[in-house]
Amino acid sequence: MKALATFLVLLNYFTRCHGWICTTAPEHAAAAQVDAGNGMVVMTDKNSNAFFLSDSSWSKLGSVPLKHVTVGYAGVWGVDLNNNVYKFAAGDFFPTHGLELMQVDAGEGQVVGVTSQNSIHCLKASSASSIEEEGVLNWNTIPGALMYMSCGPLGCWGVNSGQNIFFTKVSPDNCSISGWRQTDGAAVKVEVGTDGRVFVVIQSGHVYERTGISEAVPQGTGWSQITFCVSIKHVTYDLGRLWLLTNTGVILNCI
Ligand SMILES: *[C@@H]1O[C@H](CO)[C@@H](O)[C@H](O)[C@H]1NC(C)=O
Repeated sequence: MKALATFLVLLNYFTRCHGWICTTAPEHAAAAQVDAGNGMVVMTDKNSNAFFLSDSSWSKLGSVPLKHVTVGYAGVWGVDLNNNVYKFAAGDFFPTHGLELMQVDAGEGQVVGVTSQNSIHCLKASSASSIEEEGVLNWNTIPGALMYMSCGPLGCWGVNSGQNIFFTKVSPDNCSISGWRQTDGAAVKVEVGTDGRVFVVIQSGHVYERTGISEAVPQGTGWSQITFCVSIKHVTYDLGRLWLLTNTGVILNCI
């Protein structure tokens, strides 16, 4: 009954106040983070359980407690409370060795991540796809300092501790970059979809999409606000669908 009431309240909210049509994703108490990529949707909850969406419910993903999960062409990756990095293989997450990261993104073949000291690291596609359980991953260091990073087909985006937004192209083959360029605007999170669309969440909980992105202008030209009537904590986008995590822990699926 509570779920139905929540749904009706949200439906009422959302049909009235934005261009995307949103419905609540299958309910899960205390969602902490959500990521969509390569057709999959994964999430963690406040108790560090990881889940994936299948049919109309969240199924447990692996047995390792994780604070952050990501899915993309480079597979499914996660980070635990001690910033140890895990890769999903053969039905569960196994620990990797090499670096401790607070956030990872399984982008375009390569995997990128940032440490708690905000240094930036990249695992080239050939290393990201290998499955040596005991091996030490050979992360490349990328110049710069970021708190959050996400990659798509046209390049990688990041935000730093000053909420500045940056863009660079990154080669999945060898992790070399074209060079960071600061873009206009300020944000706390940035997420790039597998088709290259870029979304940010700003401190007030509003969501913007980057406009004018093309092969010739991969950093885009401006920001366009997407108006939602609730405060958004986290955004992720894949295959035409926007997934939003509200400040109250509800996941919305918008088309
Ligand atoms: C890195 O790979 C790209 C192709 O993805 C290539 O153009 C570039 O020369 C390579 N750079 C280095 C330093 O090997």
